[in-house]
Amino acid sequence: MSKTQFAEDVKEGLNSTPKRLSSKYFYDAKGDKLFQQIMQLEEYYLTRAELNIFQTQSQHLLDLFDSGGAFRIVELGAGDGMKTKVLLKYFQQKGADFSYCPVDISANVLEDLKRNILAELPHLKMEPLAGDYFKVLSELKFQNHKRNIAFFLGSNIGNFRKDLAIAFLSSIQQNLAKGDFLLIGFDLKKDPKRILSAYNDSQGVTRAFNMNLLQRINDELGGDFDLEAFDHNPIYDPMTGECRSYLIAKTPQKVHIKELNASYEFRAWEPIYMEVSKKYDLDEIADLAESTGFRVRENLFDQEQLFADSIWEVV
Ligand code: AVI
Repeated sequence: MSKTQFAEDVKEGLNSTPKRLSSKYFYDAKGDKLFQQIMQLEEYYLTRAELNIFQTQSQHLLDLFDSGGAFRIVELGAGDGMKTKVLLKYFQQKGADFSYCPVDISANVLEDLKRNILAELPHLKMEPLAGDYFKVLSELKFQNHKRNIAFFLGSNIGNFRKDLAIAFLSSIQQNLAKGDFLLIGFDLKKDPKRILSAYNDSQGVTRAFNMNLLQRINDELGGDFDLEAFDHNPIYDPMTGECRSYLIAKTPQKVHIKELNASYEFRAWEPIYMEVSKKYDLDEIADLAESTGFRVRENLFDQEQLFADSIWEVV
């Protein structure tokens, strides 16, 4: 992500009504660390739930994946690969014929991941690919006649606006071949209190994760946001399943951003819309699959039924 793009997006967002910033900019070096901490929090059940699916249903996944012979797992945005490693290990122990292609824009992230995975699984066939998800998928399409299984884990799709989720998944579909799969993680609708506490943790890590974007604007774009003058305010709407987070100005104030050569006025209690984390039910998952050229083959759940890994096939 270039600095100019960041500057343009910040400018557009702060000029909008209501003001907004894009959560894709949460992930600088500090944001990555904070997100790692979030995933360890007791209140943030999502990571453990998806891990539970992989731990308890690896054989079932293997039966699905290798029904057509050799296969390739193409993980879109692999992060630290912690959850996927559980599956890779199991598949290897079972002698499955497969390879693992983590995809990320950052070659550095992939280098770290490769070192980390190969330290534990030295014989794994691993081919990290740096670049744009769609480009990488289109290059792998039909390569060696292997079935491609794209992984998009962690409820990352929940951070997309609905129209953008549809556009994104349709592009994935177009870059897969008939018979390929997409394994996609969805956080499910549940007790609103449980959802809200996952995004409003008692240690304030999610608060710091949101605030870090204001700090990033200060550091990279010469902003003068006073972080103390904003409050972190997540809300959950059970009608739409959207958990939305806002940073709210506690007093009237003006923020100047040097690189944008602009100042922004905030009224007291004016919100900046930071992030959506949408929660789904099974009908919505099926609708999303159908509207993007897939069919749900199967939904796998963790033992508490908090999360679903949905296996979609290209139709
Ligand atoms: C990356 N994504 C799926 C996380 C989520 O749950 O929406 C990001 C996050 N935001 C606050 N906590 C975690």
